[in-house]
Amino acid sequence: MGPADANNAGNVHGGVIMHLCDEVAGIAAVRHSGCRVVTAAVDRMTFRHPVFVGQLVTVKATVNAAWRSSMEVGVRVESENVRSGEVLHTSTAYLTMVALDDEGKPTEVRPVASERPDEIRRAREAQLRRDSRLAERQRIEQERARA
Ligand SMILES: CC(C)(COP(=O)(O)OP(=O)(O)OC[C@H]1O[C@@H](n2cnc3c(N)ncnc32)[C@H](O)[C@@H]1OP(=O)(O)O)[C@@H](O)C(=O)NCCC(=O)NCCS
Repeated sequence: MGPADANNAGNVHGGVIMHLCDEVAGIAAVRHSGCRVVTAAVDRMTFRHPVFVGQLVTVKATVNAAWRSSMEVGVRVESENVRSGEVLHTSTAYLTMVALDDEGKPTEVRPVASERPDEIRRAREAQLRRDSRLAERQRIEQERARA
């Protein structure tokens, strides 16, 4: 991370980390679907430790689950103090990416083949997040209809 990524105290802006997460999640979703994709939602983003100028940031993404046209991508961000070698898990993010066809319409994607225990756990948790997001949306719509 360089000075342009940070404030005067040397803390890297959250938005810089979010931008990296969005880019890397997009690449993972394109690799999975073979389509162009858009970000439909950032479902969650946590910042567990500050990131400072001079640290090396590594961003890894996994497609946790896929439904009809949407995919949940989990992103893990780590910072490394390259002098001491200390590595910290600084952020986790979950983004929903939607695959588009050549006309820009949502298009079907293949399911995620979850086999290993960690893949099965990620797929199950992705389904929980999707269910709670859809349930929340439904509750809000009902609330608005009542108001
Ligand atoms: C994402 C987008 C393509 C969805 O279009 P839509 O007309 O709502 O399409 P659909 O209703 O068919 O939904 C397509 C999928 O998107 C998902 N989706 C739509 N809105 C969503 C939201 N707010 N959060 C999570 N998923 C969403 C739907 O659940 C559906 O998933 P599924 O096919 O796996 O069941 C459209 O809203 C869009 O183009 N948004 C702008 C994307 C963009 O520009 N991103 C960059 C932001 S700067």
